[in-house]
Amino acid sequence: MPRYTPAYDVLILGSGAAGLTVALNLPPHLKVAVLSKTAINSGSTFWAQGGIAAVLSDDDSVESHVQDTLNAGAGLCHEDAVRQCVENSRDAIEWLINLGVSFDMDESDPEGHRYHLTREGGHTHRRIIHAADATGRAVMGSLAERAEKRDNITLLENRVGVDLITSQNPATGSNPCQGMYVLNRETGEVETFRARFTVLATGGASKVYLYTSNPDISTGDGMAMAWRAGCRVTNMEFNQFHPTCLYHPKAGSFLITEAIRGEGGLLKLPDGHRFMPDFDERAELAPRDVVARAIDHEMKRLGLDHVDLDISHRDADFIRRHFPTIHDHCLSFGLDITRDPIPVVPAAHYTCGGVHTDLNGRTDVANLYAVGETAFTGLHGANRMASNSLLECLVFGRAAALDISAREKDTPLATELPLWDESRVTDSDEDVVISHNWDELRHFMWDYVGIVRTNKRLERARHRIDLLQSEIREYYSNYRIHTDLLELRNLVDVADLIVQSASARKESRGLHYTLDYPQTDSRAIDTTLTPARYVARAWHQS
Ligand code: FAD
Ligand code: SIN
Repeated sequence: MPRYTPAYDVLILGSGAAGLTVALNLPPHLKVAVLSKTAINSGSTFWAQGGIAAVLSDDDSVESHVQDTLNAGAGLCHEDAVRQCVENSRDAIEWLINLGVSFDMDESDPEGHRYHLTREGGHTHRRIIHAADATGRAVMGSLAERAEKRDNITLLENRVGVDLITSQNPATGSNPCQGMYVLNRETGEVETFRARFTVLATGGASKVYLYTSNPDISTGDGMAMAWRAGCRVTNMEFNQFHPTCLYHPKAGSFLITEAIRGEGGLLKLPDGHRFMPDFDERAELAPRDVVARAIDHEMKRLGLDHVDLDISHRDADFIRRHFPTIHDHCLSFGLDITRDPIPVVPAAHYTCGGVHTDLNGRTDVANLYAVGETAFTGLHGANRMASNSLLECLVFGRAAALDISAREKDTPLATELPLWDESRVTDSDEDVVISHNWDELRHFMWDYVGIVRTNKRLERARHRIDLLQSEIREYYSNYRIHTDLLELRNLVDVADLIVQSASARKESRGLHYTLDYPQTDSRAIDTTLTPARYVARAWHQS
């Protein structure tokens, strides 16, 4: 039995923008571990294209960014979270610039001092700062380089968080988090990490859907772990579908940034008809829920495999300069975007709901924080506005680090924790159960819990989830764990939370659209689930 029990002041699960922002904002006397499931840049952050929304131009204002976010969120954003994010946006960008992130400059500024700002859906101003169409790569590069140089931060790759360790304190009634079981993929052993504070920064859960823009790690691990440990989750029905992912049999999942539409790209049917003005006066720059639903509608109405995104009317040099990654990637499939329209389809992209936190990232479990896409802060409401998520990672990551710093003196380390017990499990000889269930889950979530929902489809999904949960429970208690099993277990738990939340919402709002309740109610209500399976629907007004 493994006896390795590493101890840290702060254990951060996840090495994307959220996890590394927490790590880099903690004081250097704290011993910090940052774990990632595979490589350090395995998360969505690395793949971010469009950029980061921030109030940077003289003709923009905090009030305008706040109002655009509230509008995109369809009445469900928490205004305090929105204000905290937007008011700190300039500082967050300055922090990144000081760390060495090199954003694009505005070519039209004769003095070369101004950054280039692009536009995306829902934004009434140009306010997206970016590094061409590979902003995430630039951000991850600088964050990781800085973290590697810090003596107090240990980066551990190939470590998979399994479950949180909490203890019941009958005297106070609290259940503080004291650490986590972690599967070391290199040794196959489950290690027991002790920590005074634990931070979940594991990204989103879009892998629960068959088609997604997300990397493989986005399996909702932090959300499922927090739920099992006793945390509430909120608004899980709002999964965002990005309108434009490349449609090509060999392309896998590859995003075509919304900034292409921001710079004039038009959505067309195969006969050349530009259809977005038929759906919304903001046309291609309407919020994502509107554009994705319009594409879905046209594809179903006409039996299409894809629609087209056309930027070929812009100057070819401009396209190559602003979108070099997309240009080269498409060219590798024989598609020249300076001349040809790009075939695109919607795909699952972002989990707007998540682990319920306050504005400092605190969850319901003492000493446990959640930040980034894993968390529900109230910022995104029923539909996240483009490029607000990296901003959320930076602003709330810093807030969590400051909160931990303020509390660290009063929070002791657990002296001893129970070790992982493998005495009653064996190696499985039928892993086909895992691969079959992975496929089945992602297929029915796409078909039944996708862009357009009905009561009947949700019920169908519910039955299948119940069955999968019981099979996985049995498998989990009999066989030695491995990454695919852990991810499947988490995905099924997240699917359960999505379906429970979607079934509780008897209206259509933002990303949740159901044919049975097409109306939007006059009051906006969050869907909050507690681990006792009680659905609390709390009024809040923005
Ligand atoms: P991630 O960056 O996803 O990192 C998650 C980390 O958690 C990884 O290190 C992973 O290995 C680790 N992890 C997960 N589970 C475990 C586990 N069980 N054990 C150990 N480690 C674990 N947003 C914008 O604002 N602007 C954009 O331009 C933009 N473009 C995007 C383009 C694409 C293709 C995608 C997919 C998303 C985009 N987004 C964009 C969304 C944004 O990138 C993400 O919301 C954000 O990067 C999430 O950061 P994060 O730190 O919360 O998680
Ligand atoms: C994109 O570049 O279109 C993605 C932006 C985002 O998801 O915020």
